[in-house]
Amino acid sequence: MPMPMTMRKRISPIRWIGTLAPVLLALLPAPSVAAQSLQPADWDDRIRLREAADLNPDPRIVEVNFEARVATVEIAPDLEVEAWTYNGMIPGPLIRVGVGDRLIVHFTNNLPESSTIHWHGLRIPIEMDGVPGYSQPPVETGESFTYDFVVPDAGIFWYHPHVMSAGQVGFGLYGGFLVEDPTEDETVGVADDLVIVLSDIDLNEQGELASPDTGGSVGMLFGREGNHVLVNGRQMPNLVARAGAPQRWRLVNAAKSRYFMLDLGEGHVFRKIGGDGGLVEYAEDHEFLVLGAGERADVIVRPTGEPGGELLLRSLLHDRGYGSTEFRDFEDLIAVELADMPPYSGGPLPETSREIQPYDTEGATEVSLRLTVAQDPSDKTFEYGINDVPFWKAQPVLAELGETQIWTVENTTAWSHPLHLHGFFFLVLDENGDPVRPLEWKDTVDIPFEDSVRLAVRFDERPGTWIFHCHILDHAEGGLLSAVHLDLPVSQFKNMLEH
Ligand code: C2O
Ligand code: CU
Repeated sequence: MPMPMTMRKRISPIRWIGTLAPVLLALLPAPSVAAQSLQPADWDDRIRLREAADLNPDPRIVEVNFEARVATVEIAPDLEVEAWTYNGMIPGPLIRVGVGDRLIVHFTNNLPESSTIHWHGLRIPIEMDGVPGYSQPPVETGESFTYDFVVPDAGIFWYHPHVMSAGQVGFGLYGGFLVEDPTEDETVGVADDLVIVLSDIDLNEQGELASPDTGGSVGMLFGREGNHVLVNGRQMPNLVARAGAPQRWRLVNAAKSRYFMLDLGEGHVFRKIGGDGGLVEYAEDHEFLVLGAGERADVIVRPTGEPGGELLLRSLLHDRGYGSTEFRDFEDLIAVELADMPPYSGGPLPETSREIQPYDTEGATEVSLRLTVAQDPSDKTFEYGINDVPFWKAQPVLAELGETQIWTVENTTAWSHPLHLHGFFFLVLDENGDPVRPLEWKDTVDIPFEDSVRLAVRFDERPGTWIFHCHILDHAEGGLLSAVHLDLPVSQFKNMLEH
């Protein structure tokens, strides 16, 4: 009921608020309370990634120095390796920015070869995409290049070189890239958050980096996996967990060929709330979580068991084709120690959701891509291709600014291929005709052997030649790579020339 003016005057503003507060509180949604840590203080001390020092005082600009160089790193208590690193560490420094922030990376290459940095999954201008010959010249030994862009999407991404990628990534050049969205403090509500970069490294008997060509053409055909699996650069690091308390893990598969099939043991699930490009349409529980090379996942886990006990995060055997499950064993990834403290008995795990509007595919251009492999009859070497053509003979797929395309990707080979497109997100429409839900923005989509997957992609206003390739990096170098040439519609182009 409105109060008469005279009465209102006699009530001080403070009293006004005091009187109305209970009413307002009942009407308004609950105020946002930042989630609190539920873990013991040192829970992630032995696994946490180091971050790059931000040299810029502006809170919306992160400015860092990256130096690629050979350095000795410790991957286990008694195992040191001379590897290729960013700033002397494997993985390279974790980049942590807010969505919409500007990132400036002063990159200096002190490796014995040329290099670049590709920002995997980020929708940034072509000049910043890090592919020599398409977006920038290679950065030669002793030279520098500055990457400078605004980060458009929240999610877990990563970075790696795009010169001799199988070799350079395999030698240790990769890092995590976390783009935070502050509204998720409330919607996800899990404060204990950890970036986990999975990878492997191949060492010879002398404990040195093995040649990236081991096994010759057959090694390429399968995709070379390292013989030491690493988690945040270490063999089986420890993580402390309070039983019953949820943790948020942002997982990156930075291995050059290996797939991971994660398992946290009996009674545990991975609640997948996000994937390559931020939150997914709705959260879904997975008993096992498969990540192909280059893929990411944002999951909530709730370790349970007796305080003082231990759980093991393992990778089981995912079948990506002949040789991936035969004569092989599970890999131990993380020893999860249950803290000696009373278990946490909180409510249910968060139910996140995000509205993802499927593209209007009416009138979309159909593109058909077969992933192929062939053997040279004379020298018996293998060569991968797209529509029977390896990248060195490929003609780019043509696309116009703003165009929507539907890609039907048919894998005719005997091995799975995680297909990665630079600069844009896919929406997976269906796999072997079955619709795929929940919807997820993907930049790397596993195309299982002998399967067919349909993808929708919308090209926006960032012209350029954007490559796509298998993220088993040996396969990419063995031919499984092509490009999208994105430009003005031809009619508009002609118009420009005439006027
Ligand atoms: Cu993750 Cu072409 O790259
Ligand atoms: Cu492949």
